[in-house]
Amino acid sequence: MTFAPKSLLVTGGAGFIGSNFIHSYIANNPDCMVTNLDCLTYAGNLKNLTCVEQHANYRFVKGDIGDSLLVAGLLSEMAIDAVVNFAAESHVDRSITGPEIFVRTNVLGTQILLEESRKHWKSGSVSDFRFFQISTDEVYGSLGDTGYFTEETPLAANSPYSASKAGADLLVRAYHETFGMPTLNTRCSNNYGPYHFPEKLIPLMIHNIINKKPLPVYGDGLNVRDWLHVRDHAAAIEVVLKMASSGSVYNIGGNNEWKNIDIVHLVCDLLDKRLGRADGENRQLITFVKDRPGHDRRYAIDASRLKQELGWEPAYTFERGIAETIDWYLDNSEWVEGVTSGSYREYYEQQYGRGAV
Ligand code: NAD
Ligand code: TYD
Repeated sequence: MTFAPKSLLVTGGAGFIGSNFIHSYIANNPDCMVTNLDCLTYAGNLKNLTCVEQHANYRFVKGDIGDSLLVAGLLSEMAIDAVVNFAAESHVDRSITGPEIFVRTNVLGTQILLEESRKHWKSGSVSDFRFFQISTDEVYGSLGDTGYFTEETPLAANSPYSASKAGADLLVRAYHETFGMPTLNTRCSNNYGPYHFPEKLIPLMIHNIINKKPLPVYGDGLNVRDWLHVRDHAAAIEVVLKMASSGSVYNIGGNNEWKNIDIVHLVCDLLDKRLGRADGENRQLITFVKDRPGHDRRYAIDASRLKQELGWEPAYTFERGIAETIDWYLDNSEWVEGVTSGSYREYYEQQYGRGAV
C-alpha cells in the first residue's frame, strides 16, 4: 500500500539535501502542497530554491523547529499529513567547537517537532500521518577495515554532531514505541552534489582548487567515507515516505567507499583538465593538517534492506556524479561567492588558521 501525502511539511528545506529533495519532490508530485520551514542559519539559503519559489504549491516559512506555537499553527493551518525533518546543525567540525546548538536544534528541536506532530496526529484532523526523521550513518560510530553498518548495528556516536543525531533517532523510536506514532527514519551516508555548502570535504576542495588555496587533508587522509549523490538520497526518501511501513528504519548508501586522499586526488585531477592546468598542478595544493579529534575512521553502509524491500537503487555512477558536481560549481560561481563571503570567512580562519582564506 502506498501513502500519498497531500500536504508536506519539510523542515530545513533551504539547506543542501532539503533543497534538492524539494526540487525533485515538487517535480514528481506537483499536486502535493509543500511547506518549507527553515530558520535560515548560515547553511540555509533561499537561492537554493529559486526554481520552485513561484510554484503554486510551494510555500516558504522562516522559523525555528523549536518554536512550538509556530509549528502547531502550521501543522493545523496547512493540514499537514507528513513531516520530513531535515533541519539540523550538520557539520562535525562545528560541533567540536560549539556543541550546544547541536543539542538544541537536533535533539530538542526534533522533540518539539515530534510533540507537536503527535498532538496534531492525535487530533484526528488528518486521516493518515507520517513523521520522517532524516538521519545519518554517523550515529553508528566508526568501522574498522571491514564490515558494514546495518540497521541493527548499535548506535555508538563519537562526535557531538552524531551524538545529537542519535539522540533524535532514539526520540523518534520512543514516539513510535510509546505513543504508536507513525514514524520513519533513514540513515544515509555522505552526500555530494549541487548546493553543498563549501565547509564539507568535496565542495571545500573544489572551491579551494579553483582559487588555488591549500587543500587541508586531516590526519593521514586514509579515513573512508561512502559517497552518495544527493539526488539519489532524495529519491530514496521519496520511496521510503510513500512505501515504508510505520516505525521502520532504513539505511541509505551508495556502496561507494573512498579514502579521503583518493577523493582529493580525483577532484584535483578532474579540475586540472577542466581548468586547463598542467597534469598534477592541483595536487601540489594538498596540505596535511592536524587530525579532527575523535575522527571516525571508516563509514560503510549496507543498504540492502532498502533495495530488497522497496526496490531503491542509486541512479548515479560516481564518475558521472562527481564530474557533474564539479561542473555545477564552475557554472555557479555567483552562488559560491554568495555563501563564502561574510561569516564563512570567519569560520574558515578559525578552523584552518589566520590568512588561510
Ligand atoms: P545543511 O546544514 O546543509 O542544512 C540544514 C538546514 O536546516 C539549513 O537550511 C538550516 O537553515 C536549517 N536549520 C537549522 N536549524 C534549524 C532550526 N532550528 N529550525 C529550522 N531550520 C533549521 O544540512 P544537510 O547536509 O542538508 O543535511 C540535512 C539533514 O540530513 C540533516 O539532518 C543531516 O543530519 C542529514 N544528513 C546529512 C548528510 C550529508 O552528507 N550532508 C548525510 C546524511 C544525513
Ligand atoms: P565532512 O565532509 O566534514 O563529512 P563527515 O565528517 O560528516 O564525514 O568530512 C568528510 C571527510 O573528510 C572526513 O573524514 C573529514 C575529512 N575532511 C578533511 O580531511 N579536510 C577537511 O577540510 C574537511 C572539511 C573534511
